[in-house]
Formats: sequence, C-alpha cells, structure tokens
Amino acid sequence: MTDRDWQEKLEAFFELRARQISEVPTLDDLCYLAGRNPLLWTDQNLLSDLKSHVLDLMQLDQTSKVLEVGCAAGLLASLIAPKVGKYVGIDLAEAPLSVARRLKLANAEFRKGDGQNLPFGDREFDAALCYDVFSNFPAFETGEKIIREMLRVVRSGGRVLVGSIPDQNEIEQSQQISARLAAGFGTQQSRPPLQTLVKAEKAGPLARLSNYLGLTDKDAVREIKPEIVSYYFSKDDFVQFGSRLQVETRIADIHPRNPYAGTRFNVIFTAK
Ligand SMILES: C[S@@+](CC[C@H](N)C(=O)[O-])C[C@H]1O[C@@H](n2cnc3c(N)ncnc32)[C@H](O)[C@@H]1O
Repeated sequence: MTDRDWQEKLEAFFELRARQISEVPTLDDLCYLAGRNPLLWTDQNLLSDLKSHVLDLMQLDQTSKVLEVGCAAGLLASLIAPKVGKYVGIDLAEAPLSVARRLKLANAEFRKGDGQNLPFGDREFDAALCYDVFSNFPAFETGEKIIREMLRVVRSGGRVLVGSIPDQNEIEQSQQISARLAAGFGTQQSRPPLQTLVKAEKAGPLARLSNYLGLTDKDAVREIKPEIVSYYFSKDDFVQFGSRLQVETRIADIHPRNPYAGTRFNVIFTAK
C-alpha cells in the first residue's frame, strides 16, 4: 500500500463520518467523528479525567495559546479551549472542521492544514498536542515530521504532547480490552455504515484534450473506501528521536480512567 492509499482511506473515514452531521454536534457526534466509541467516550468522568490529565501534562493555564494537530470535530477543543487563552485546531479533513466551527467556542479557531507542514511561525504557541492521531500511522517515521513541526512552533520550555500511543509491548492486553469492551457494548449500531468517498480526478493533459475535442463528456472520478487501522509503537523510537533532536523527552501513562491504561502511553517533549 502506498502512502497515498492509506492516507486517502483514513481521510475518507473522517470526512464521510463528518458529512453525516448537519447540525450543531452533540457529544455523541463528537466522539463518533473522532473515531471514538460514543458508548464509552460520552462518560463525563472519563472525559474529565482526560481533560485534567492533558491540562496538567502540558502545564496549561488561562493564558496559554495551544495548538492541536488532528483536532477532528473538536472533542478535545471543547474540553481544552474553556481552560486556556487561545486554542487553534488543525486537521487534514475539511468536513470535521466545519462541524467543529459549529461548536462556537469563543476562543477557538479551526483551520485546514497538515501537521507535517504547519502554517505557523516559529514559537507562536505555548504548547502543542497531537492526541490519538499517531495510532493511525503505519510507521513511526510518518509522524516524525509532525513532532519536529510542533517543536518548531512552540516557545522554548513549552510542552509538546503526543498522546495515547498504542504500546507494541502490550498488543495482546490491548486486544483483550477491545474484545471485553465490544462484548460489553453488545451489537448496538448507532450509525449507518459509511459508503465510499467520490473524488474528482484532476484531468491530465490527454484527458483535457479529449474533453476539449468533445470525445469525452464525463470528469474522471475515483471511489475511495474509508478505512481506519490502529498501529502499535515502541517507546524507544520516541525516546531516541527526542535524544536526536536534543530535547527533553518523557514517557508517561495515559489518564488512569481510560480502559486502555497500561497499554497506551503519552510522550511529552520540552521545546528547546
Ligand atoms: C482519531 S482523530 C483524533 C481527534 C482528536 N485529537 C481526539 O483525540 O479526539 C485523528 C484526526 O487526525 C487527523 N490527521 C491525521 N493526519 C493528520 C495530519 N498529518 N495533519 C493534520 N491532521 C491529521 C485526521 O484527519 C483525524 O481527524
């Protein structure tokens, strides 16, 4: 599978889910759009545990300016923005962002952008996070550029959090937890299955010529099957990367109420 294949399938997954929501999103919608199971993540105790853990790890307060890379429809924004001075979320997929803007969070801004090439100047933020995003990357190297970019846009001494990374030493335990949760939730299916994402192909020179000559009358389209896969990572890769960049790097557990605690980890870098 090429880079383009998995990225397109992943983007289709979030894009198509977001297109199902036409109103102001409910908490259930936000979980669904972030790829989180609403039957689990609408629990207020779990959300509040996640919120206080993230605020604490990133040392955020009412004056902080924070960036989230891979914000989806703003689930974390709705937790973090009210506790900081300014929140900026970016995501590759446009449809989740337009849902996020309907939340009307007073100090939040949502922009389309790629975490590998952030549209911000050096040291513009006090802190940055990329939470539950790496798990969708097939290799550590895919996320390296995102970490470099977050460290670039955060002020010296500010925190960069890469969060909720599935630990490759705990695959079996993680699968057992998934199976247990799935059994507990039963077969409740709250949303219709996703169809395919239809994308117009940019016509090449030959197609443009044949369109011009009237030999074809249809634009080329491609159908992309949505797909999300969860991958596992080694803590060592993050520690070694941090030491190559010569930044302080710390591994921490995810928040204690998360049913996957012990099988996922957080990485906190301190910008130079
Ligand atoms: C699983 S959701 C996580 C949403 C949110 N951070 C949370 O924890 O609820 C992952 C999001 O990351 C986005 N994403 C993946 N790669 C990205 C990249 N290179 N730049 C920006 N966003 C990206 C996806 O489009 C998707 O919306």
